[in-house]
Amino acid sequence: MTGPGGTLRVAVVADIHGNSAALDAVLADIATTGADLTVNLGDCLSGPLDATGTAERLLGLGLPTVAGNHDRALIDRPPEAMGSWERPVIGCLTPPVLAWLHSLPATLAVEGLFLCHGTPVSDTEPWLDRPGPDGLLALAPLDAIDAPAAGVAGAVLLSGHTHIARAVRLSDGRLAVNPGSVGCPAWADRRGRVPVRAETGAPDARYALLERRGGRWQAALRAVPYDARPMVALARAAAEADWDSALTTGRVPA
Ligand SMILES: [Fe+2]
Repeated sequence: MTGPGGTLRVAVVADIHGNSAALDAVLADIATTGADLTVNLGDCLSGPLDATGTAERLLGLGLPTVAGNHDRALIDRPPEAMGSWERPVIGCLTPPVLAWLHSLPATLAVEGLFLCHGTPVSDTEPWLDRPGPDGLLALAPLDAIDAPAAGVAGAVLLSGHTHIARAVRLSDGRLAVNPGSVGCPAWADRRGRVPVRAETGAPDARYALLERRGGRWQAALRAVPYDARPMVALARAAAEADWDSALTTGRVPA
């Protein structure tokens, strides 16, 4: 680790969602960057893919990690009240995995960076994006992005949840970064009249590499291609059409 004025590289992962193949690809890519540390913004296991393999990797890595709404949903309700992304994961909730999930804080400060899943006060609110009239997530107005940052300390404000990678400059000059999703490049919430959708348009695994040079932070948003076929097979075995489409195209059916 270097002093405040020295170079520091921090890799940021989020929204792995049980995609161990994407996680392996991102970790291999991070290893080529000389990153000093890696932090994780949550939503680690939920989904129809490889929660057990993902949990094994993450418990072994011990990354600074905040809880996502889908991490919380695995421990704050009985199995019968869990959603379709949590139900496939129930079988991997061994005592060590449960203890790890219970240990995850809602927010963290690491090396002067602020970490949360959604916003500083919510793991379900999107920060940098809003659904447009067609339901697709799009860049939020600047005042809506500025507001949650008021009073929050941190040279860079990190959030996940939407699965859309962005580096946004706040009015006060700070960066707000969403690294995108390691394991789930598109999703649809079909509960409302107009489904809310997020689409990256590519099946690649996303993460961000932050670098502090001379006291200033810059962000690189990276998209890593990987062999998703084992994960696609799991999505198909679970009859999850949105996941199948997301993992092969980065889009979901309208
Ligand atoms: Fe997520």
